[in-house]
Amino acid sequence: MNAVITAIGGFVPSSILTNKKISETVDTSDEWIVKRTGIKERRIADDNTATSDLAAAAVENLLENYKVDREEIEALLVATATPDHILAPTASIVCEKSGLVNAFGIDMNAACSGFLYALEMGANMIESGRYSKLIIVGADKMSSIVDYEDRNTCILFGDGAGAVLLEKTESGNGLMKTILKTDGSGVSSLAVPAGGSRTPISMQSLLHRTHYLKQDGAFVFKKAVSSMSQVSQDALAKNELQADEIDWVIPHQANLRIINAVGESLNIDAEKVKVNIERYGNTTSATVPLCLWDFKNDFKEGQNLLITTFGAGFSWGATCLKWGVMRDEKTAKISKNTTEKSVVMAH
Ligand code: ACO
Repeated sequence: MNAVITAIGGFVPSSILTNKKISETVDTSDEWIVKRTGIKERRIADDNTATSDLAAAAVENLLENYKVDREEIEALLVATATPDHILAPTASIVCEKSGLVNAFGIDMNAACSGFLYALEMGANMIESGRYSKLIIVGADKMSSIVDYEDRNTCILFGDGAGAVLLEKTESGNGLMKTILKTDGSGVSSLAVPAGGSRTPISMQSLLHRTHYLKQDGAFVFKKAVSSMSQVSQDALAKNELQADEIDWVIPHQANLRIINAVGESLNIDAEKVKVNIERYGNTTSATVPLCLWDFKNDFKEGQNLLITTFGAGFSWGATCLKWGVMRDEKTAKISKNTTEKSVVMAH
């Protein structure tokens, strides 16, 4: 028995932050950002919208669009690095907002690899036979931890959420073997130094802006390329697949140059590598499900997908999956604006 994705939802806020706008506040330019990252714009949530609102909007989009009975959902795994609160769990808030009355909810933080980690946990829950319907969400309001005075980081990130429904299948489609990796020696290269139990928020942390995300960009860049390339090759080998048997690659969207380098190292044609970073930037836990959401109409039953991620921790991994049969979609799709309104109304 395998776990297979049968429905997808997504949500991005309507407000667009362009490179030009960023260049009005820090010393950068549209040309530099596009050339060095591939990012043209990113979506930014308003002050009244938290990560749970983004996640709930993505879940609502999934439930409504695919006519999923919310009472049948048994668990909600929310991958996020920007929870609404340190305590209580964001997943509890999403369960409440989304009416998932029979689901337990849990947050999972593995930064940019969070969705992949949660997908692996969810797949194992289904394959164990103990669960049959789970929702996995990747959601982040990165604008809440980005320092818009720091040109090294503020150009990179955006807000958004994506959600998938995992169900059991005996069709032979679905999630294959996954490799997940962690190297804690990388923590200081990419972290929000203050705000946790190590360094609670204080006047000092506010003064030194250490409650914002800091990263050694060049070092992280090199680690991301080598780690995603290697783990992708390892995942292919583990699943006894050749690179030319992969129909689509869904890479974490951190930097277009990283994505291209990983594709090249695998010798996979660029047109098979899905990219939406130009529109959303790096939405951390949400990049992979937002990519699945954006490009779902391209995936056909039986095609092989390779997902690979890299993020803070360091945390990285790769999995392969055989695309399955999706539930029927409603013909009249929920527009992004309608979903946005439902977020506002939730407050
Ligand atoms: N505009 C103009 N110049 C800039 C900017 C900017 N926005 N940012 C940096 N520069 C300058 C630097 O100051 C430096 O100038 P110098 O040579 O005078 O010192 C020069 O550009 C080169 O800096 P680098 O850091 O070497 O630039 P690089 O080409 O590496 O690009 C970037 C920086 C985009 C941050 C890149 O390193 C990157 O994408 N890193 C990886 C990000 C990532 O993958 N993160 C992991 C996931 S995130 C997560 O888990 C939450």
